[in-house]
Amino acid sequence: MLKFDFNNMMQNYVGADGFTDADLKAAEVEARAAYDKFAARRGTGMTEWADLPYTQDAVVEDILACAEDIRKNYDNFVVLGIGGSALGPIAVFTALCHFRYNDLPAGKRGVKFFVEDNVDPERMLALLDVIDVRRTVFNVITKSGATSETMSQYLIIADILKKEVGEEWNKHIIATTSEKKGNLIKLAKKEGFKTFYIPDGVGGRFSELCPVGLLPAAVLGIDIKGLLAGAAAMDKRCADGDMKKNPALMAAVLQYLSMKRGKNISVMMPYADSLKYMADWYCQLWGESLGKAVDLAGNTVHTGQTPVKSLGVTDQHSQVQLYTEGPFDKVITLIGVEKFRGDVTIADGAEEFPDVNFLCGHTMGELINTERVATEYALTRSGHVNNTVMLPEVNAESVGELLMFFQLQTAYCGELLGIDTFNQPGVEEGKNATYALFDRKGYEAKKAELDAAPEKDGKYIV
Ligand code: PA5
Repeated sequence: MLKFDFNNMMQNYVGADGFTDADLKAAEVEARAAYDKFAARRGTGMTEWADLPYTQDAVVEDILACAEDIRKNYDNFVVLGIGGSALGPIAVFTALCHFRYNDLPAGKRGVKFFVEDNVDPERMLALLDVIDVRRTVFNVITKSGATSETMSQYLIIADILKKEVGEEWNKHIIATTSEKKGNLIKLAKKEGFKTFYIPDGVGGRFSELCPVGLLPAAVLGIDIKGLLAGAAAMDKRCADGDMKKNPALMAAVLQYLSMKRGKNISVMMPYADSLKYMADWYCQLWGESLGKAVDLAGNTVHTGQTPVKSLGVTDQHSQVQLYTEGPFDKVITLIGVEKFRGDVTIADGAEEFPDVNFLCGHTMGELINTERVATEYALTRSGHVNNTVMLPEVNAESVGELLMFFQLQTAYCGELLGIDTFNQPGVEEGKNATYALFDRKGYEAKKAELDAAPEKDGKYIV
């Protein structure tokens, strides 16, 4: 079971910058109100993600059958998507598959797996160098069916497939999109693609537990029922307005109180390479959900915490100097793993060098966990608030728990801040500007606005 350890957020441990029991007591009413508001919202608007562990029995069976077919008949599975349509699949793949998955001999893995989010042309050319499109399924994931990056990738791949595969090219594309809105669903119907739907009330960054994440995971042989079961278990643990009994609510309140004290940076630092991309996923979830200009009452608030990804122990040799001695503007969250799925003993061989020999006979798992404890100690000793999310082991259930924990924490924090957690007007602005710059029909006003913007002045470019 996931544990949320916030000892080092407390004054008794971390000193002046920490909270007291009285601070927590004073936050209880606000915490309960945030819980109640979210509970009342559940099942409406953009909160459908919270019910995904309970509502997808038929979809899961469809996904498993489709995944089985792909595993039998193809060599590669490529996700074309960006933002919430890519970060979840990458995070779960990295957490639950072999570290060198694509490099394993064919008999020891399933189909090769690629997630293509960016539209860097060199990256696309490199992908085409290593896959045979005739042996590949492309999962085009876009809820809006309009995102320029994903739709341009789709067009490039569709064109290649038509030339290389011929009539049956449409069997190589699976569309994961909105059932009702956007162009991808229209294209899917016209071309006859296999389709999975992203429910209306599930936004990109909250979509890992719907077909966006479940299909890629199932293709990889990941236990998707276990993922959903872990998420359900966390959801049930969090069904309480008392933050002492609700780990995600406690985590949200501590971040919220820290923000009020000017801690505008949230560092996410897993001590496990398998969870490295969980920090990337968290960065989108936290940044895009809480970074808002206005609150629900229309007041200008410019709220949010800047999420920063970090990796233990690697970034002990890069960022931790700043975290221990730099400004008191951060909350640092470590993610620890009690038991690694395999371990390696550090061999003897340095008997005459006591400064090295002390390592011998220990395992790498012991070393990484000891370094995590040491970093916690160094942060705490230097007065920097930090907390630790502990997983017993990285497996489908614990990853499901972790995803739901952060999603609920984000939703509660949004309620505490009084903002719309589930919109992304800042992202839309960039998307619309791209459409306008490419002269898309319907974006003439935006184009005029861009044309009217002052031209860049050469004197400020050196
Ligand atoms: O969280 C979000 O909604 C966004 O980051 C989207 O995931 C991202 O912009 C991609 O959108 P779409 O799924 O419509 O292609």
